[in-house]
Amino acid sequence: MKIAITGKGGVGKTTFSSMIARIFADEGFRVVAVDADPDANLALALGFPKDVYESIVPISEMKNLVSERTATSEGTFNKMFKLNPKVDDIPEKYCKEHNGVGLLTLGTVDTGGSGCVCPEHVLLKRLCSHLILQNNDVVVMDMEAGIEHLGRGTAQGVDAFIVVVEPGERSLQTYRKVKKLGNDIGVKKVYVVGNKMRDNQDIEFIKGNLEDGEALGFIHYNQQVIDSDRANQSPYDISEATRNEIKAIKNRLVEIKNQNS
Ligand SMILES: Nc1ncnc2c1ncn2[C@@H]1O[C@H](COP(=O)(O)OP(=O)(O)OP(=O)(O)O)[C@@H](O)[C@H]1O
Ligand SMILES: [Mg+2]
Repeated sequence: MKIAITGKGGVGKTTFSSMIARIFADEGFRVVAVDADPDANLALALGFPKDVYESIVPISEMKNLVSERTATSEGTFNKMFKLNPKVDDIPEKYCKEHNGVGLLTLGTVDTGGSGCVCPEHVLLKRLCSHLILQNNDVVVMDMEAGIEHLGRGTAQGVDAFIVVVEPGERSLQTYRKVKKLGNDIGVKKVYVVGNKMRDNQDIEFIKGNLEDGEALGFIHYNQQVIDSDRANQSPYDISEATRNEIKAIKNRLVEIKNQNS
């Protein structure tokens, strides 16, 4: 199962990613959680101890790894580098493990526009492609709002793009944007998860604004989730109610994947 989580800032992408990753792990799957947000904080939501998350170096900042794999050397002008760097051993070597979830922090690259090809970018793109297309683990990617940096072939291997939305027009607009981006590259599997629902009106509001899209499920607004953030704990360990709502969403995902295969 390969899923990518997107959505407007602050809607709950990281919260959702961490919880669904831990649910799969508890069922005995090998799970790789990928933090693909430049402002990385998935480790915290997964409940990593402070000394571990403070020691995390994002892949894009591992200068030696990047240059070794892409065969560039720092400071070289007019760089020549491999476009197909070896990446298959990276998940194993660089995943940090906690609560049964392996975490890979990608870091950020200065993309400088969509046409950018720098060694870091090439390595991350290739790594994402490997994780999605050639790897048997469950992969959960916590991303920003866009899906562009996955590339067409990789995006088509994703079982579900999940756009987390709140009951509001602004996050729905992000959903429509992601859906259109997906459509442009032939990706149809874009779904919604409604988060921070206060009542049925919120749920109906989202259902009424999906056009032909599907909501995998809804997660209620839960003070315990915020408390877990304040206490620097994994929301998975704090709230059974939210955990159960996300389990139902996971079950729906599995159902859809089985229907499609
Ligand atoms: N169901 C919920 N009920 C209450 N609060 C929630 C819920 N889900 C998430 N939150 C809170 O909303 C805030 C943002 O959540 P989170 O960091 O998961 O969002 P995000 O989409 O990853 O944000 P960013 O765009 O900054 O990466 C956090 O304080 C989190 O505790
Ligand atoms: Mg986040």
